Amino acid sequence: MLIKQSPPLQGTVEVNGAKNAVLVIMTSLILTNGTSTLNNVPNNADVRLMISLLQLLGAHVTFNAEKKQLIVNTEPIGSYEIPPEIMNKIRASILVAGPLLARFGRARVAYPGGDLIGLRPINYHLEGFKKCGATILHNDPFVEATITSQKNSYNRIVLEYPSVGATENLLMFASLGTSETVIINAALEPEVLDLIDVLKKMGASIEILPVATIVIKGASKLNPVTHSIIPDRLEAGALLAAAAITGGHITISNARASDMDIFLEKLSMMGHAIQTPFTLGANTPDLGITIKATTNPIAVGVKTAPYPGFPTDLQPSFMALLCAATGTSVIEETVYENRMVHARELRKMGAQIAVDGAKATIHGVEELYGTDVIATDIRASCSLMLAGLIAQGQTRMTGLHHWQRGYDQLEEKLRALGANITIEEHSDQMINNAL
Ligand code: EPU
Repeated sequence: MLIKQSPPLQGTVEVNGAKNAVLVIMTSLILTNGTSTLNNVPNNADVRLMISLLQLLGAHVTFNAEKKQLIVNTEPIGSYEIPPEIMNKIRASILVAGPLLARFGRARVAYPGGDLIGLRPINYHLEGFKKCGATILHNDPFVEATITSQKNSYNRIVLEYPSVGATENLLMFASLGTSETVIINAALEPEVLDLIDVLKKMGASIEILPVATIVIKGASKLNPVTHSIIPDRLEAGALLAAAAITGGHITISNARASDMDIFLEKLSMMGHAIQTPFTLGANTPDLGITIKATTNPIAVGVKTAPYPGFPTDLQPSFMALLCAATGTSVIEETVYENRMVHARELRKMGAQIAVDGAKATIHGVEELYGTDVIATDIRASCSLMLAGLIAQGQTRMTGLHHWQRGYDQLEEKLRALGANITIEEHSDQMINNAL
Protein backbone atom coordinates (compact mmCIF):
# COMPACT_ATOMS: atom_id res chain seq x y z
CA MET A 1 0.00 0.00 0.00
CA LEU A 2 1.32 3.42 -0.96
CA ILE A 3 0.08 6.25 1.23
CA LYS A 4 0.77 9.94 0.66
CA GLN A 5 0.04 12.99 2.76
CA SER A 6 -3.69 13.60 2.39
CA PRO A 7 -6.06 16.54 2.78
CA PRO A 8 -8.59 16.61 5.65
CA LEU A 9 -11.03 13.77 4.92
CA GLN A 10 -14.54 14.94 4.07
CA GLY A 11 -17.81 13.16 3.36
CA THR A 12 -20.26 10.50 4.42
CA VAL A 13 -19.55 6.80 4.46
CA GLU A 14 -20.99 3.49 5.66
CA VAL A 15 -19.24 0.60 7.40
CA ASN A 16 -19.54 -3.09 6.56
CA GLY A 17 -20.82 -5.84 8.80
CA ALA A 18 -18.50 -6.70 11.71
CA LYS A 19 -15.78 -9.23 10.87
CA ASN A 20 -15.60 -10.55 14.43
CA ALA A 21 -19.38 -11.02 14.57
CA VAL A 22 -19.79 -12.72 11.21
CA LEU A 23 -16.97 -15.24 11.78
CA VAL A 24 -18.51 -16.64 14.95
CA ILE A 25 -22.07 -16.44 13.61
CA MET A 26 -20.95 -18.51 10.60
CA THR A 27 -19.67 -21.23 12.95
CA SER A 28 -22.89 -21.09 15.00
CA LEU A 29 -24.82 -22.29 11.93
CA ILE A 30 -23.24 -25.73 12.52
CA LEU A 31 -25.73 -26.04 15.39
CA THR A 32 -28.61 -26.10 12.90
CA ASN A 33 -29.64 -28.52 10.20
CA GLY A 34 -30.78 -26.54 7.19
CA THR A 35 -30.32 -23.34 5.22
CA SER A 36 -29.59 -20.00 6.89
CA THR A 37 -29.11 -16.57 5.31
CA LEU A 38 -26.69 -13.99 6.66
CA ASN A 39 -26.90 -10.43 5.33
CA ASN A 40 -24.45 -7.54 5.60
CA VAL A 41 -21.51 -9.96 5.32
CA PRO A 42 -18.15 -8.31 4.54
CA ASN A 43 -16.01 -9.74 1.76
CA ASN A 44 -12.65 -10.00 3.52
CA ALA A 45 -10.05 -12.78 3.51
CA ASP A 46 -11.07 -14.12 6.95
CA VAL A 47 -14.69 -14.54 5.83
CA ARG A 48 -13.54 -16.32 2.68
CA LEU A 49 -11.37 -18.67 4.80
CA MET A 50 -14.29 -19.37 7.11
CA ILE A 51 -16.37 -20.25 4.04
CA SER A 52 -13.69 -22.80 3.02
CA LEU A 53 -13.71 -24.21 6.52
CA LEU A 54 -17.49 -24.72 6.51
CA GLN A 55 -17.21 -26.32 3.07
CA LEU A 56 -14.46 -28.61 4.36
CA LEU A 57 -16.86 -29.81 7.06
CA GLY A 58 -19.41 -30.55 4.32
CA ALA A 59 -21.64 -27.43 4.30
CA HIS A 60 -22.96 -25.97 1.04
CA VAL A 61 -22.13 -22.27 0.91
CA THR A 62 -23.06 -19.54 -1.58
CA PHE A 63 -21.60 -16.06 -1.13
CA ASN A 64 -22.95 -13.15 -3.15
CA ALA A 65 -20.29 -10.54 -2.30
CA GLU A 66 -22.12 -7.77 -4.13
CA LYS A 67 -25.33 -8.36 -2.20
CA LYS A 68 -23.23 -9.05 0.94
CA GLN A 69 -25.32 -12.19 1.37
CA LEU A 70 -24.16 -15.59 2.54
CA ILE A 71 -26.37 -18.66 2.28
CA VAL A 72 -25.24 -21.72 4.21
CA ASN A 73 -26.82 -25.17 4.18
CA THR A 74 -25.44 -27.06 7.17
CA GLU A 75 -27.46 -30.23 6.62
CA PRO A 76 -24.66 -32.11 4.79
CA ILE A 77 -22.03 -31.42 7.50
CA GLY A 78 -20.54 -34.80 8.34
CA SER A 79 -17.07 -34.08 9.72
CA TYR A 80 -15.98 -32.86 13.16
CA GLU A 81 -12.28 -32.37 12.37
CA ILE A 82 -10.28 -29.26 11.42
CA PRO A 83 -6.71 -29.95 10.23
CA PRO A 84 -3.69 -27.77 11.15
CA GLU A 85 -3.42 -26.23 7.64
CA ILE A 86 -6.72 -24.43 8.21
CA MET A 87 -6.27 -23.68 11.91
CA ASN A 88 -2.94 -22.00 11.13
CA LYS A 89 -4.58 -19.71 8.59
CA ILE A 90 -7.44 -18.49 10.73
CA ARG A 91 -7.36 -18.55 14.52
CA ALA A 92 -11.11 -17.96 14.68
CA SER A 93 -11.55 -21.53 13.42
CA ILE A 94 -11.31 -22.59 17.11
CA LEU A 95 -14.89 -21.29 17.22
CA VAL A 96 -16.12 -24.43 15.45
CA ALA A 97 -15.19 -26.53 18.50
CA GLY A 98 -18.27 -25.63 20.58
CA PRO A 99 -20.80 -26.14 17.77
CA LEU A 100 -19.16 -29.42 16.59
CA LEU A 101 -19.05 -30.76 20.15
CA ALA A 102 -22.72 -29.89 20.59
CA ARG A 103 -23.75 -31.44 17.24
CA PHE A 104 -21.60 -34.58 17.17
CA GLY A 105 -20.56 -35.01 20.83
CA ARG A 106 -17.04 -34.73 19.41
CA ALA A 107 -14.69 -32.10 18.02
CA ARG A 108 -11.14 -32.70 16.78
CA VAL A 109 -9.33 -29.48 16.00
CA ALA A 110 -5.68 -28.65 15.54
CA TYR A 111 -4.29 -26.43 18.29
CA PRO A 112 -4.41 -22.86 16.91
CA GLY A 113 -1.10 -21.73 18.41
CA GLY A 114 -0.05 -18.16 19.12
CA ASP A 115 0.62 -15.23 16.85
CA LEU A 116 2.71 -12.09 16.96
CA ILE A 117 0.35 -10.17 19.26
CA GLY A 118 0.33 -12.85 21.96
CA LEU A 119 0.41 -16.52 22.91
CA ARG A 120 -3.37 -16.75 22.70
CA PRO A 121 -3.91 -20.08 24.47
CA ILE A 122 -7.34 -21.82 24.48
CA ASN A 123 -7.28 -23.08 28.09
CA TYR A 124 -10.48 -21.19 29.04
CA HIS A 125 -12.34 -22.81 26.13
CA LEU A 126 -11.15 -26.29 27.13
CA GLU A 127 -11.72 -25.79 30.88
CA GLY A 128 -15.26 -24.66 30.06
CA PHE A 129 -15.95 -27.74 27.92
CA LYS A 130 -14.61 -29.91 30.77
CA LYS A 131 -16.98 -28.25 33.24
CA CYS A 132 -19.79 -29.22 30.85
CA GLY A 133 -18.74 -32.86 31.03
CA ALA A 134 -16.36 -33.14 28.06
CA THR A 135 -13.17 -35.18 28.11
CA ILE A 136 -10.21 -33.37 26.57
CA LEU A 137 -7.40 -35.30 24.89
CA HIS A 138 -4.22 -33.59 23.66
CA ASN A 139 -2.84 -35.50 20.72
CA ASP A 140 -0.38 -33.16 18.99
CA PRO A 141 -1.23 -31.29 16.76
CA PHE A 142 -4.85 -32.06 17.65
CA VAL A 143 -6.94 -31.42 20.69
CA GLU A 144 -10.00 -33.61 20.91
CA ALA A 145 -13.08 -32.93 23.01
CA THR A 146 -15.63 -35.69 23.56
CA ILE A 147 -18.88 -35.88 25.48
CA THR A 148 -18.75 -39.47 26.67
CA SER A 149 -22.01 -39.69 28.57
CA GLN A 150 -25.18 -37.59 28.45
CA LYS A 151 -24.75 -33.82 28.72
CA ASN A 152 -24.92 -32.50 32.32
CA SER A 153 -28.28 -31.00 33.23
CA TYR A 154 -26.64 -27.98 34.90
CA ASN A 155 -23.25 -26.36 34.24
CA ARG A 156 -21.71 -23.44 36.10
CA ILE A 157 -18.62 -21.98 34.44
CA VAL A 158 -16.54 -19.23 36.00
CA LEU A 159 -14.19 -17.63 33.49
CA GLU A 160 -10.96 -16.37 35.01
CA TYR A 161 -10.93 -13.67 32.30
CA PRO A 162 -13.82 -12.53 30.09
CA SER A 163 -12.42 -14.15 26.95
CA VAL A 164 -14.46 -13.33 23.84
CA GLY A 165 -13.72 -16.63 22.10
CA ALA A 166 -14.27 -18.82 25.19
CA THR A 167 -17.59 -17.10 25.95
CA GLU A 168 -18.70 -17.59 22.33
CA ASN A 169 -17.65 -21.25 22.18
CA LEU A 170 -19.39 -22.05 25.47
CA LEU A 171 -22.51 -20.10 24.50
CA MET A 172 -22.80 -22.09 21.28
CA PHE A 173 -22.12 -25.42 23.00
CA ALA A 174 -24.70 -24.70 25.70
CA SER A 175 -27.42 -23.60 23.26
CA LEU A 176 -27.99 -27.07 21.77
CA GLY A 177 -29.32 -29.68 24.21
CA THR A 178 -31.50 -29.51 27.26
CA SER A 179 -28.92 -28.39 29.85
CA GLU A 180 -28.93 -25.09 31.69
CA THR A 181 -25.54 -23.36 31.68
CA VAL A 182 -24.38 -20.30 33.59
CA ILE A 183 -21.26 -18.42 32.42
CA ILE A 184 -19.87 -16.05 35.04
CA ASN A 185 -17.45 -13.23 34.10
CA ALA A 186 -18.55 -13.60 30.48
CA ALA A 187 -17.37 -11.33 27.66
CA LEU A 188 -20.14 -8.98 26.54
CA GLU A 189 -18.57 -7.42 23.44
CA PRO A 190 -21.12 -6.21 20.83
CA GLU A 191 -20.06 -9.17 18.65
CA VAL A 192 -20.94 -11.60 21.50
CA LEU A 193 -24.35 -9.90 21.80
CA ASP A 194 -24.89 -10.31 18.05
CA LEU A 195 -24.16 -14.04 18.44
CA ILE A 196 -26.64 -14.21 21.34
CA ASP A 197 -29.22 -12.58 19.10
CA VAL A 198 -28.67 -15.32 16.50
CA LEU A 199 -28.77 -18.17 19.06
CA LYS A 200 -32.07 -16.80 20.40
CA LYS A 201 -33.48 -16.64 16.87
CA MET A 202 -32.45 -20.31 16.49
CA GLY A 203 -34.52 -21.17 19.58
CA ALA A 204 -32.15 -21.06 22.57
CA SER A 205 -33.21 -19.18 25.67
CA ILE A 206 -30.45 -16.80 26.80
CA GLU A 207 -30.51 -14.17 29.52
CA ILE A 208 -27.82 -11.69 30.59
CA LEU A 209 -27.75 -10.97 34.31
CA PRO A 210 -25.63 -8.65 36.41
CA VAL A 211 -22.67 -8.90 36.76
CA ALA A 212 -21.46 -10.20 33.36
CA THR A 213 -23.38 -13.48 33.80
CA ILE A 214 -25.08 -15.32 30.96
CA VAL A 215 -27.72 -17.98 31.59
CA ILE A 216 -28.40 -20.35 28.70
CA LYS A 217 -31.27 -22.81 28.51
CA GLY A 218 -30.52 -24.98 25.52
CA ALA A 219 -33.01 -26.28 22.97
CA SER A 220 -33.01 -29.89 21.74
CA LYS A 221 -33.19 -28.58 18.16
CA LEU A 222 -32.00 -25.24 16.82
CA ASN A 223 -33.54 -23.81 13.65
CA PRO A 224 -31.88 -22.08 10.67
CA VAL A 225 -32.00 -18.27 10.76
CA THR A 226 -31.98 -15.13 8.68
CA HIS A 227 -29.82 -12.46 10.27
CA SER A 228 -28.15 -9.18 9.39
CA ILE A 229 -24.66 -8.69 10.90
CA ILE A 230 -24.10 -5.61 13.12
CA PRO A 231 -22.00 -2.70 11.75
CA ASP A 232 -18.25 -3.08 12.29
CA ARG A 233 -17.17 -0.85 15.20
CA LEU A 234 -13.51 -1.46 14.33
CA GLU A 235 -13.94 -0.27 10.75
CA ALA A 236 -15.85 2.72 12.14
CA GLY A 237 -12.93 3.34 14.50
CA ALA A 238 -10.47 3.23 11.59
CA LEU A 239 -12.50 5.79 9.60
CA LEU A 240 -12.97 8.11 12.59
CA ALA A 241 -9.24 7.92 13.30
CA ALA A 242 -8.47 8.74 9.66
CA ALA A 243 -10.68 11.83 9.88
CA ALA A 244 -9.14 12.76 13.24
CA ILE A 245 -5.51 12.52 12.09
CA THR A 246 -6.12 14.55 8.92
CA GLY A 247 -8.21 17.22 10.68
CA GLY A 248 -11.23 16.13 8.66
CA HIS A 249 -15.00 16.14 9.00
CA ILE A 250 -16.87 12.92 8.22
CA THR A 251 -20.09 11.12 9.06
CA ILE A 252 -20.44 7.35 9.34
CA SER A 253 -24.13 7.00 8.76
CA ASN A 254 -24.63 3.44 10.03
CA ALA A 255 -22.10 3.26 12.91
CA ARG A 256 -23.45 2.43 16.36
CA ALA A 257 -22.20 4.98 18.91
CA SER A 258 -23.33 2.75 21.79
CA ASP A 259 -20.72 0.15 20.73
CA MET A 260 -17.82 2.62 20.90
CA ASP A 261 -18.40 4.84 23.93
CA ILE A 262 -14.87 4.93 25.37
CA PHE A 263 -13.20 5.36 21.98
CA LEU A 264 -15.49 8.33 21.22
CA GLU A 265 -14.87 9.72 24.70
CA LYS A 266 -11.10 9.59 24.15
CA LEU A 267 -11.43 11.29 20.76
CA SER A 268 -13.42 14.07 22.48
CA MET A 269 -10.76 14.37 25.18
CA MET A 270 -8.19 14.94 22.41
CA GLY A 271 -10.25 17.92 21.28
CA HIS A 272 -12.25 16.41 18.41
CA ALA A 273 -15.94 17.29 18.18
CA ILE A 274 -18.07 14.13 18.13
CA GLN A 275 -21.75 14.07 17.34
CA THR A 276 -23.86 10.99 18.01
CA PRO A 277 -27.55 10.38 18.72
CA PHE A 278 -26.56 10.59 22.43
CA THR A 279 -24.80 13.96 22.14
CA LEU A 280 -27.91 15.17 20.31
CA GLY A 281 -30.00 14.27 23.35
CA ALA A 282 -31.39 10.87 22.35
CA ASN A 283 -31.53 8.32 25.14
CA THR A 284 -31.87 5.28 22.94
CA PRO A 285 -29.09 3.86 20.78
CA ASP A 286 -29.37 4.88 17.17
CA LEU A 287 -27.11 5.01 14.18
CA GLY A 288 -24.68 7.68 12.99
CA ILE A 289 -21.43 9.23 14.21
CA THR A 290 -19.97 12.51 12.95
CA ILE A 291 -16.48 13.76 13.75
CA LYS A 292 -15.24 17.30 13.17
CA ALA A 293 -11.59 17.01 14.00
CA THR A 294 -9.46 19.62 15.71
CA THR A 295 -6.21 20.55 13.97
CA ASN A 296 -4.52 20.82 17.37
CA PRO A 297 -5.20 17.52 19.18
CA ILE A 298 -3.88 17.01 22.70
CA ALA A 299 -2.37 13.92 24.33
CA VAL A 300 -4.58 11.54 26.37
CA GLY A 301 -3.83 8.29 28.18
CA VAL A 302 -5.45 5.00 27.21
CA LYS A 303 -5.66 1.60 28.90
CA THR A 304 -7.16 -1.27 26.92
CA ALA A 305 -9.67 -3.60 28.60
CA PRO A 306 -12.49 -6.00 27.76
CA TYR A 307 -15.73 -4.30 26.63
CA PRO A 308 -16.93 -1.72 27.61
CA GLY A 309 -13.29 -0.73 28.18
CA PHE A 310 -11.07 0.71 25.46
CA PRO A 311 -10.85 -1.97 22.71
CA THR A 312 -7.42 -3.48 22.16
CA ASP A 313 -8.26 -3.66 18.44
CA LEU A 314 -8.35 0.16 18.26
CA GLN A 315 -5.19 0.63 20.34
CA PRO A 316 -2.78 0.60 17.35
CA SER A 317 -4.89 3.22 15.52
CA PHE A 318 -5.10 5.37 18.61
CA MET A 319 -1.34 5.19 19.00
CA ALA A 320 -0.96 6.70 15.53
CA LEU A 321 -3.23 9.59 16.56
CA LEU A 322 -1.23 10.21 19.72
CA CYS A 323 2.03 10.37 17.71
CA ALA A 324 0.78 13.65 16.25
CA ALA A 325 -0.89 15.08 19.40
CA THR A 326 0.57 17.84 21.56
CA GLY A 327 2.08 16.44 24.76
CA THR A 328 2.92 13.04 26.19
CA SER A 329 0.54 10.10 26.39
CA VAL A 330 0.78 6.65 27.91
CA ILE A 331 -0.92 3.58 26.43
CA GLU A 332 -1.25 0.48 28.55
CA GLU A 333 -2.15 -2.72 26.69
CA THR A 334 -3.75 -5.19 29.10
CA VAL A 335 -5.40 -7.69 26.71
CA TYR A 336 -2.40 -8.96 24.72
CA GLU A 337 1.15 -9.29 26.00
CA ASN A 338 2.82 -8.27 22.73
CA ARG A 339 0.56 -5.82 20.91
CA MET A 340 3.09 -3.02 20.53
CA VAL A 341 4.93 -4.13 17.39
CA HIS A 342 3.44 -1.27 15.37
CA ALA A 343 5.33 1.16 17.68
CA ARG A 344 8.59 -0.05 16.11
CA GLU A 345 7.28 0.74 12.63
CA LEU A 346 5.82 4.11 13.70
CA ARG A 347 9.26 4.99 15.10
CA LYS A 348 10.72 4.42 11.63
CA MET A 349 8.39 7.22 10.51
CA GLY A 350 9.76 9.63 13.12
CA ALA A 351 7.35 8.91 15.99
CA GLN A 352 8.77 9.22 19.49
CA ILE A 353 7.56 6.14 21.34
CA ALA A 354 9.28 4.33 24.20
CA VAL A 355 7.94 0.83 24.81
CA ASP A 356 8.39 -0.89 28.14
CA GLY A 357 6.66 -4.28 28.08
CA ALA A 358 2.98 -3.60 27.46
CA LYS A 359 3.29 0.13 28.13
CA ALA A 360 4.09 2.78 25.52
CA THR A 361 4.99 6.40 26.25
CA ILE A 362 4.37 8.62 23.26
CA HIS A 363 5.73 12.14 22.84
CA GLY A 364 3.78 13.91 20.12
CA VAL A 365 5.90 15.19 17.23
CA GLU A 366 5.37 18.00 14.71
CA GLU A 367 6.02 15.81 11.72
CA LEU A 368 6.12 12.17 10.58
CA TYR A 369 8.07 10.98 7.54
CA GLY A 370 7.05 8.44 4.92
CA THR A 371 9.23 5.33 4.64
CA ASP A 372 8.96 1.56 4.14
CA VAL A 373 7.01 -0.10 6.97
CA ILE A 374 5.72 -3.61 7.62
CA ALA A 375 2.26 -4.44 8.93
CA THR A 376 2.37 -7.33 11.39
CA ASP A 377 -1.33 -7.77 12.17
CA ILE A 378 -4.69 -6.46 10.95
CA ARG A 379 -4.88 -3.54 13.33
CA ALA A 380 -1.18 -2.65 12.99
CA SER A 381 -1.81 -2.22 9.26
CA CYS A 382 -4.46 0.37 10.09
CA SER A 383 -2.13 2.21 12.45
CA LEU A 384 0.55 2.54 9.76
CA MET A 385 -1.97 3.62 7.13
CA LEU A 386 -3.11 6.40 9.49
CA ALA A 387 0.43 7.64 10.12
CA GLY A 388 1.00 7.59 6.36
CA LEU A 389 -1.92 9.99 5.84
CA ILE A 390 0.00 12.80 7.56
CA ALA A 391 3.62 11.77 6.88
CA GLN A 392 5.83 13.85 4.61
CA GLY A 393 6.59 12.00 1.38
CA GLN A 394 5.44 8.47 0.69
CA THR A 395 4.77 5.58 3.07
CA ARG A 396 5.08 2.13 1.60
CA MET A 397 3.45 -0.57 3.69
CA THR A 398 4.01 -4.27 3.08
CA GLY A 399 2.34 -7.17 4.87
CA LEU A 400 -0.86 -6.13 3.16
CA HIS A 401 -2.45 -9.56 3.60
CA HIS A 402 -3.15 -8.50 7.19
CA TRP A 403 -5.14 -5.48 5.94
CA GLN A 404 -7.05 -7.71 3.54
CA ARG A 405 -7.89 -10.20 6.27
CA GLY A 406 -9.84 -7.62 8.24
CA TYR A 407 -11.12 -4.92 5.93
CA ASP A 408 -13.36 -5.08 2.87
CA GLN A 409 -12.32 -2.32 0.46
CA LEU A 410 -11.65 0.14 3.27
CA GLU A 411 -8.96 1.74 1.08
CA GLU A 412 -11.65 2.62 -1.47
CA LYS A 413 -13.84 4.26 1.16
CA LEU A 414 -10.84 6.25 2.41
CA ARG A 415 -10.02 7.30 -1.14
CA ALA A 416 -13.60 8.49 -1.67
CA LEU A 417 -13.17 10.69 1.43
CA GLY A 418 -9.98 12.19 -0.03
CA ALA A 419 -7.19 9.91 1.23
CA ASN A 420 -4.22 9.41 -1.05
CA ILE A 421 -3.90 5.61 -0.94
CA THR A 422 -3.13 3.09 -3.64
CA ILE A 423 -2.55 -0.63 -3.53
CA GLU A 424 -0.03 -2.42 -5.71
CA GLU A 425 -1.17 -6.00 -5.33
CA HIS A 426 1.61 -7.71 -7.26
CA SER A 427 4.68 -6.00 -5.93
CA ASP A 428 3.42 -6.40 -2.36
CA GLN A 429 2.88 -10.11 -2.89
CA MET A 430 6.39 -10.45 -4.29
CA ILE A 431 7.87 -8.66 -1.29
CA ASN A 432 5.91 -10.87 1.13
CA ASN A 433 7.18 -13.95 -0.62
CA ALA A 434 10.71 -12.62 -0.47
CA LEU A 435 10.51 -11.88 3.28
N1 EPU B 1 -6.85 -16.00 26.59
C1 EPU B 1 -6.31 -17.00 27.37
N2 EPU B 1 -6.91 -18.23 27.34
C2 EPU B 1 -7.99 -18.50 26.58
C3 EPU B 1 -8.54 -17.47 25.77
C4 EPU B 1 -7.94 -16.23 25.80
O1 EPU B 1 -5.33 -16.79 28.08
O2 EPU B 1 -8.49 -19.63 26.61
C5 EPU B 1 -6.21 -14.67 26.57
C6 EPU B 1 -5.65 -14.33 25.19
O3 EPU B 1 -4.36 -14.87 25.02
C7 EPU B 1 -5.67 -12.82 25.19
C8 EPU B 1 -6.90 -12.50 26.05
O4 EPU B 1 -7.20 -13.67 26.80
O5 EPU B 1 -4.52 -12.33 25.80
C9 EPU B 1 -8.12 -12.10 25.25
O6 EPU B 1 -8.46 -13.11 24.34
P1 EPU B 1 -9.96 -13.36 23.82
O7 EPU B 1 -10.25 -14.80 23.97
O8 EPU B 1 -10.87 -12.38 24.48
O9 EPU B 1 -9.81 -12.98 22.28
P2 EPU B 1 -10.19 -13.85 21.02
O10 EPU B 1 -11.55 -14.40 21.17
O11 EPU B 1 -9.08 -14.76 20.66
C10 EPU B 1 -11.35 -11.82 19.80
C11 EPU B 1 -11.16 -11.09 18.49
C12 EPU B 1 -9.85 -10.32 18.51
C13 EPU B 1 -9.91 -9.34 19.70
C14 EPU B 1 -10.19 -10.08 21.02
C15 EPU B 1 -10.35 -9.16 22.20
C16 EPU B 1 -12.28 -12.55 16.92
C17 EPU B 1 -12.18 -13.44 15.75
N3 EPU B 1 -11.13 -12.06 17.39
O12 EPU B 1 -10.22 -12.70 19.89
O13 EPU B 1 -9.79 -9.58 17.30
O14 EPU B 1 -8.68 -8.67 19.81
O15 EPU B 1 -11.39 -10.87 20.86
O16 EPU B 1 -11.38 -8.27 22.00
O17 EPU B 1 -13.37 -12.25 17.38
C18 EPU B 1 -8.78 -8.48 15.50
O18 EPU B 1 -9.91 -8.40 14.98
O19 EPU B 1 -7.78 -7.85 15.04
C19 EPU B 1 -8.60 -9.33 16.69
C20 EPU B 1 -7.40 -9.76 17.09
